[in-house]
Amino acid sequence: MGIRLGAAWYPEHWDEVTWRQDLKLMREAGLNVVRIAEFAWADIEPSEGHFALDWLERAVSLAAEHGLDVVMGTPTAAPPAWLTQAYPEVLAVDEHGRRAQHGKRCHYDVTSSLYQKLCARVVEELARRFGPDERVIGWQIDNEYNRVSFSEQARRAFQEWLQGLYVDDEGRPSLAALNSAWTTSYWSQKYTSWSQIPLPAEQNHNPALILRFHQFVTEAYCRFQRLQLEIIRRYARPGQWITSNFMGFFHGFDHYRICEELDLASWDHYIGTGHLDLVRAGAAHDLTRGFKRRNFWVMETQPGCVNWAPINNMLDRGEARAMAWNGIGRGADAVLYWQWRSALNGQEQYHGTLVAPDGTPRPFYQEVKRLSEDLQKVGDLLDGQTIRAEVALLHSYDDRWAIEAQRHHRDFDPLAHYLHYYRCFAGRSIMTDIISSRAPLSDHGYKLVIGAPVHIIDEAIAAELKRFASEGGHLVLSIRSGFKDAHNRLHQSRPPALLQDAAGMYVEEYYALLEPVPLRLELGGQAIEGQGQIWAEWLTPLEGTQVLARYGSSNGWLDGQAAVTAHPYGAGWVYYVGAWLDERTQAALMGWIAERAGVRPVLAGLPENVAALRRGDAIVVVSARRERCQLSLPGRYRDQLTGRLLEVELELEPYGVAVLVPA
Ligand code: GAL
Repeated sequence: MGIRLGAAWYPEHWDEVTWRQDLKLMREAGLNVVRIAEFAWADIEPSEGHFALDWLERAVSLAAEHGLDVVMGTPTAAPPAWLTQAYPEVLAVDEHGRRAQHGKRCHYDVTSSLYQKLCARVVEELARRFGPDERVIGWQIDNEYNRVSFSEQARRAFQEWLQGLYVDDEGRPSLAALNSAWTTSYWSQKYTSWSQIPLPAEQNHNPALILRFHQFVTEAYCRFQRLQLEIIRRYARPGQWITSNFMGFFHGFDHYRICEELDLASWDHYIGTGHLDLVRAGAAHDLTRGFKRRNFWVMETQPGCVNWAPINNMLDRGEARAMAWNGIGRGADAVLYWQWRSALNGQEQYHGTLVAPDGTPRPFYQEVKRLSEDLQKVGDLLDGQTIRAEVALLHSYDDRWAIEAQRHHRDFDPLAHYLHYYRCFAGRSIMTDIISSRAPLSDHGYKLVIGAPVHIIDEAIAAELKRFASEGGHLVLSIRSGFKDAHNRLHQSRPPALLQDAAGMYVEEYYALLEPVPLRLELGGQAIEGQGQIWAEWLTPLEGTQVLARYGSSNGWLDGQAAVTAHPYGAGWVYYVGAWLDERTQAALMGWIAERAGVRPVLAGLPENVAALRRGDAIVVVSARRERCQLSLPGRYRDQLTGRLLEVELELEPYGVAVLVPA
């Protein structure tokens, strides 16, 4: 089938004449998939228990007649007004105790068992009708899970969930175990009944409570999702897959957990204000690929502009094509635009679309057409091909929640710190996986693994990292690694706990920095005068550990102490980076480590905001630059989009794309 191209379509446009016109234009643009119904509950179940699916079935038939496959959305992100009026208790409650109002979406309380029952009923109707349907290739459950509810029912569900987590030796719920793990004697937090445990509706709660609450929200969405999964799977014909669409690095729940039960991961790629940064967008693609460690879909992307950003600027001409290719080069098997046609009313009137209210193409339509022409040329070449990376960055929602709740320095944004590492590799066109900190590392061919940081660590994580390094891998640990245990409790040994022997050092002290501290990095005879900013740690090396960088004079404590270390471990190496380094020093250090690890870029020496991505045997080159640029090639290639033979150089137009295979 090649790479899929599609758009979202909503029932507000439903009448046969309009739909036929739309389908004709979709076909002419080269679309082959349409996503429908994800907010259509009010039209699917106009009153309680009365279902109207014939129009939807007719829409599916007509799509098929025009050669388009269908992705069916379950409409549970938008409960209808009759439902919220009859059952106001299904509405979410915010931190201040206010119930959500009708008229928006995602206004439901995911922990409501009544809501789950009502969802199950509508999903069952849909699944019974469309599960066996050949024309429906897959399902999307709900839409962008995000709402957290602080209702009474959520609190009770949290308390119940905790009882399964904190148990005694015989597996019985144990408040003593919870009190001990949460250190609740502190500030008299000790609980004598499960019913006393609050939801963290205010700032500055117990770190264990905060972490567990995020995990609980994840489990609540898992349950909500599982209910729908089970129903759909009961009716689905073989081959129909099920996904849900996510929002990049949004961290309202643990995506690894949610994706365990899905067949496919997908995400919604928006830029909002500004322009395409290939590395920043690339990180979200790589993240999504890592959820199931295989190719993924871009379920929604921006047709020119959005309507919700501070400035809803239109992407430059050609930019959306580069945006799509940046995903395809990183393993996207489909790119779908949100949405096809402007709704005449509703909250998103100004959003970009492919077709205007009069049903004729907007200028952006041509851009999608061009993308479909690309895909006709190279779709087969890329079909079924996936990504093999030699570098893996570990990622953990627990770590992000733990640090976010206690930044210690207001500028310690865990995601910014993470991307500070990612950029050193992806920015140099080194294919990079982003995987869970709990993912097995063997059999993937990784040469370099980075924990930026591995903040919460337990025996299982430590054992896998040690195994990787001892078998010849290069392991980099950043600041704040090995600080906490699974209860978000401080480890009783110095950081990096459980990895001190492998890293050959420990953290003597950590410092939030008012001002940058100077440091000197020495890499194989070359010295770099750099800085640590925001956060610096005084490292104490153990025997046999090399010191790669030392601090200059600053707060007295750090003066002359080790800032970066390297330690041989088994057949491999473990590096500890003790400060948030300035960009130049960070790039030099990571470049040096990558070289030692034998990691190679797909193409070397590319200009800023140009990426070379390897998918199977093809190299996808994408420019997100406004001006032309040249790059040199290490051999002879043929660009499969233009058919041109390239000897030593490739010239790219603004936002240009090439798909190269060795010639
Ligand atoms: C997404 C959402 C879509 C649409 C889009 C607009 O977050 O899933 O339904 O609202 O934003 O950019």
